[in-house]
Amino acid sequence: MAEEVARHYSDGRNLAAAIADSLRKAGKDIGKLTTADLGTVDEFHIRGRKATLELGQSLSLNAGSHVLDIGSGLGGPARTLAETYGCQVTGIDLTQEFCDAAATLSTWVGLADRVAFQQGDATNLPFADGQFDAAVTIHVAMNIAAKDRMYAEARRVLRPGGLFGVYDVLQGDGGDVRYPVPWAREPSISHVATPDAMVTLLRGAGFKILSTQDSSEEGLRWFEGMAAMMAQGTPPPVTFRTFLGDDFPEMTRNMQSNLREHRIRTVTYICQA
Ligand SMILES: C[S@@+](CC[C@H](N)C(=O)[O-])C[C@H]1O[C@@H](n2cnc3c(N)ncnc32)[C@H](O)[C@@H]1O
Repeated sequence: MAEEVARHYSDGRNLAAAIADSLRKAGKDIGKLTTADLGTVDEFHIRGRKATLELGQSLSLNAGSHVLDIGSGLGGPARTLAETYGCQVTGIDLTQEFCDAAATLSTWVGLADRVAFQQGDATNLPFADGQFDAAVTIHVAMNIAAKDRMYAEARRVLRPGGLFGVYDVLQGDGGDVRYPVPWAREPSISHVATPDAMVTLLRGAGFKILSTQDSSEEGLRWFEGMAAMMAQGTPPPVTFRTFLGDDFPEMTRNMQSNLREHRIRTVTYICQA
């Protein structure tokens, strides 16, 4: 299962080189990039960088915080939090190519001393008990069947009282998900939980849920904006298409239907260990 998930996200290419190529073609100087320049490709979740900034605001972060990003992808959320709060962020991700690209992108924007990425599985974290002050996970659990183990591991590595921000895609009440979607081309690697199941899972792992926020309507508008830019031939210089390939336009159409028809929801939980 883990190998199939990693294969979904990676085609063995050097992702950082592909991203640099797209940016250069758009006239960007790689030596002068900002985290915002990278946000259209490295914030790989609905509502992008804005959603990461919102999540960060709820986690009481400061320059002394050590944050774990579970399923860190290309490292956009980790860099955004490190830059905004001056904190240290460790990212862990199943897909080796994403971890490699995350390290390279961090050097481009001068944040390599504040973020670190390593390959690993969210259900078996290679960290000591109570090691982190806070943790985030953004659009990851829909690839993980063993969510009980994932959340138990997040709880274990957080210090007592530490905050855990979970922003994920959930099963809605409008029927089955239409595929392909950005996290799966077909159902075998997709494991979306219902909102009821999420409450049970997070509490079962020992978390207190402090707040719950549904952002599905804003997520739909975000995808509509993306689709409009693609239709007008004015997409950002670099997008998720760099690694999702030519399926990306169909995924974008399906995500709009999935959100519009309430087949999926996007929900943020702020939890306390
Ligand atoms: C949609 S991307 C989100 C990446 C990142 N959180 C972001 O928002 O930019 C999902 C990520 O989850 C990772 N992933 C999936 N299953 C995982 C697992 N069991 N352990 C760690 N990472 C996993 C994938 O490799 C991928 O990078």
